[in-house]
Amino acid sequence: MDNILISKMQDEDIDEALLTEQSHNIHILSKNILKEDIKNKNYYYLVAKNNQKKIVGYIGISYVLDEADIISIVVHKDYTKNGIATLLLQEIFKFAKDNNIQKLMLEVRNSNIPAQKLYEKHGFKQITIRKNYYDNSEDALIYEKEL
Ligand SMILES: CC(C)(COP(=O)(O)OP(=O)(O)OC[C@H]1O[C@@H](n2cnc3c(N)ncnc32)[C@H](O)[C@@H]1OP(=O)(O)O)[C@@H](O)C(=O)NCCC(=O)NCCS
Repeated sequence: MDNILISKMQDEDIDEALLTEQSHNIHILSKNILKEDIKNKNYYYLVAKNNQKKIVGYIGISYVLDEADIISIVVHKDYTKNGIATLLLQEIFKFAKDNNIQKLMLEVRNSNIPAQKLYEKHGFKQITIRKNYYDNSEDALIYEKEL
């Protein structure tokens, strides 16, 4: 496995970061949203780059006072199961610690088992369910981790 370098997302990273979503045929964020978010002091986005400086994953959180929400975490389909999401999460845990963030929250589709396993492995606990949250048909599971 390549060396993976984690860095703050810059404007020039946005297009390639969005390709990680396309690799799974999902659409979570748009270019315009990312452009605004990375300038916002209440948001923190990271990218993971491999040896060839290719973006293989990204993560984004929003935070207010001592609470943060994970907005999105995606690893390019060709690079999954190599610990990249784990590295991204660990960087967020460090950032949270340094910024007195006490609680991390997120929501995930009921059908998204890989993501649920990832979060559970890293100490997130399911606290509730939002019925029919996605497109009025799929439940969202809400997870929380106290830091
Ligand atoms: C979920 C996702 C981010 C995981 O990324 P990843 O880099 O493959 O994750 P890691 O290699 O760090 O895996 C860490 C743990 O997650 C779990 N996991 C990851 N992929 C899994 C899979 N396909 N099936 C079951 N568990 C899985 C495992 O517990 C794994 O630990 P292990 O390797 O010891 O078994 C990636 O599959 C992805 O981008 N999916 C599409 C986007 C998405 O659903 N994002 C989350 C919702 S916003």
